[in-house]
Amino acid sequence: MKNQLTIKNAKLRNQEQLVNIVIDQGMIRQISTHPEVEANESIDAQGNLVTPPFVQSHVHLDSALTAGEPRENISGTLYEGIEIWAQRQKKITREDVISRALKIIKWHVGQGTLLIRSHVDICDPSLTAVKALLEVKEKVAPYVTLQLVAFPQEGIMDYPQALELMEEALKMGVDGVGGTPHLEFTREEGVASINRVFDLAEMHDCFVDIHCDETDDEQSRFLEHVALQAYRRGYGARTTAGHTTAMHSYNNAYADKVLNLAQRANLHFVANPLSNISLMGRFDNYPKRRGLTRVREILERGLNISLGHDNVMDPFYGLGMASMLQVANMCLHVCQMTGIDEMKRVFDMITLNGAKTLQLDDAYGIEEGKPANFMVLDACDEVDALRRMPAITTVISRGQVVASTEPVRTRVALESEEIIDYRK
Ligand code: FE2
Repeated sequence: MKNQLTIKNAKLRNQEQLVNIVIDQGMIRQISTHPEVEANESIDAQGNLVTPPFVQSHVHLDSALTAGEPRENISGTLYEGIEIWAQRQKKITREDVISRALKIIKWHVGQGTLLIRSHVDICDPSLTAVKALLEVKEKVAPYVTLQLVAFPQEGIMDYPQALELMEEALKMGVDGVGGTPHLEFTREEGVASINRVFDLAEMHDCFVDIHCDETDDEQSRFLEHVALQAYRRGYGARTTAGHTTAMHSYNNAYADKVLNLAQRANLHFVANPLSNISLMGRFDNYPKRRGLTRVREILERGLNISLGHDNVMDPFYGLGMASMLQVANMCLHVCQMTGIDEMKRVFDMITLNGAKTLQLDDAYGIEEGKPANFMVLDACDEVDALRRMPAITTVISRGQVVASTEPVRTRVALESEEIIDYRK
């Protein structure tokens, strides 16, 4: 019997010899230099890089593609963004959220991202966005894994019935619970909000993914309480601290202390380089802080950290096209992780590390017996991919080709005509 599909001449990471990947019934049946069985169909990777799909660890699908509605963000700041979003959110409908979310998910798939964790705002008594994204989750389930986090954009302690709305969202099928302690009125209320988020997570046996210290305020120290709760409750493997940008501004002695606690708890971290570099440092004159968390220090402690796009064309960040390569490219520049091994670790952050954050790493990777989820990049290795941000020429989800893109080739006609691809 012939197999469904074979990818020939694939270059895997950290492996010199090209391989053939045999797919059958949506699974990777064999990886070898000489496939024993003939395939019905084959794709020649031509020695290009083949990796597992990208992972989007943090995005807001419910606000995506609303940039300019009802008006543009003139200052480009977070605070004007919050003001505009409050107006736009009043006009949210089920159809509106579904059509924008499906469009953005297609952008993700086209660029090799098949695992997505999206926050969804629960500060709406009718939970319109929650219901809409649950429908989207079901619709895309055959080819994309979408996790949803109940996200209190306006805080938990002051928004009427925020906890009840979060609980209702969880009962409807949302996967995890979030928080925004740095947006609560006081330190004490921020701490109380974290306790309630963990109580809710334990009660519903779900993960925690908190927007934590998304500010330049070096006194914003909610990470320590998130880490403490995760540690005391034995919940670290299921807890993610997103942003933690205040850690950029902590004094080194305190950063060391809080990272020690995070290490005890075994927390996951998510950084969002595109929105963080745009929105942080806005109260600074010169020098201006970069406002990204301490990525290198987190990695050096063996802790897991992955990357998110956060906002895609919304009032908070009007740019982006859901490319995880662009996110990683920004990360390595802002964090000065331009050493050769460091760049490879940044590539990990949009692949394996993301799968760990989403707790989906068991089924992730190009190995015999695992689901056939991977992609062919128009690149010779991961550093080439980060540099050129090339087309993802073939995306395969559960054994099916779900997206393909022609590689960019430029015809240059000077003394003679030639085709260039910007490779060395
Ligand atoms: Fe976010």
